[in-house]
Amino acid sequence: MSEKEFIIRKPDDWHLHLRDGEMLASVIQHSAANFERAIIMPNLVPPVVTTDDAIAYKDRINQVIPPGMSFQPLMTLYLTEATKTSDIKQGVDLGVVTALKLYPAGATTNSENGVKEFGNVYSILEFMAEVDIPLLIHGEVTDPEIDIFDREAVFIERVLDPLRKRIPELRIVMEHITTKDAVDYVIQGGPNIAATVTTHHLIINRNAYLAGGIRPHYYCLPVAKRETHRMALRSAVCSGNEKFFLGTDSAPHLDGAKENACGCAGIYTSVNTLSCLAHVFEDENALDKLEGFVSVHGPSFYKQK
Ligand code: NCD
Ligand code: ZN
Repeated sequence: MSEKEFIIRKPDDWHLHLRDGEMLASVIQHSAANFERAIIMPNLVPPVVTTDDAIAYKDRINQVIPPGMSFQPLMTLYLTEATKTSDIKQGVDLGVVTALKLYPAGATTNSENGVKEFGNVYSILEFMAEVDIPLLIHGEVTDPEIDIFDREAVFIERVLDPLRKRIPELRIVMEHITTKDAVDYVIQGGPNIAATVTTHHLIINRNAYLAGGIRPHYYCLPVAKRETHRMALRSAVCSGNEKFFLGTDSAPHLDGAKENACGCAGIYTSVNTLSCLAHVFEDENALDKLEGFVSVHGPSFYKQK
């Protein structure tokens, strides 16, 4: 195999779980080594719901960045039905809050405090559109009648599309998309919708965790789907379309919580994500599109330099 070398701007990670305490202190080095900035997910226990929480969490992150490394945490608030627009405004004015995250209650790890009735947050979302702060969405319905493999597609139809019709000015990032349905929806959706794509969803399909034995370290939410969906994600990112950018969704859990009769969702990927991505883009003959995906499209949607 021939060696290739090329230089890209330092990437950013537009969806990252750093956790807190000892876990934060041990995982931060991998993100700081590989990424200039990251959107920090707020699903701690208890969650980061107010601007004061975000300021305190940002301080805890900054304290453990290894000396000599530059890394900028971009903070998010966990949207609840009790979120106050005055608090969002304060966070935006102080430059502390970059986005809000919408978890449908019960959709994923630590989402119990998320939104139960979407109608109850519409006025908050209208305010967000006015101040032009993006909404990041975990796009899965939680209806137990809906098959887990269909939850993203059904979310688009039942929740996302009606929401966008009602508040078209709101800028939305559909997080960690896993389906062709989401790819198509984002491509057709005009300038106010974009999507993050994880490295693992470009590499694994559902066989990875279900065929030949159950492999809990490949279990995450949304769950990886069948091969046709993985191929659609690969073509979307390798096409160079600027609506798609990297959000690793690196989500560390202790081994005991993964290798368990009821293991938790989340794949820890910040360690080797960029080398894995280089493989994906090389396989698709699209190495020239890698920099856009990891370093350019994200800042442009987020209106960051
Ligand atoms: C994430 C986590 O562990 O916090 N898990 C996951 O499977 N992706 C939550 C999330 O982003 O859904
Ligand atoms: Zn996540």
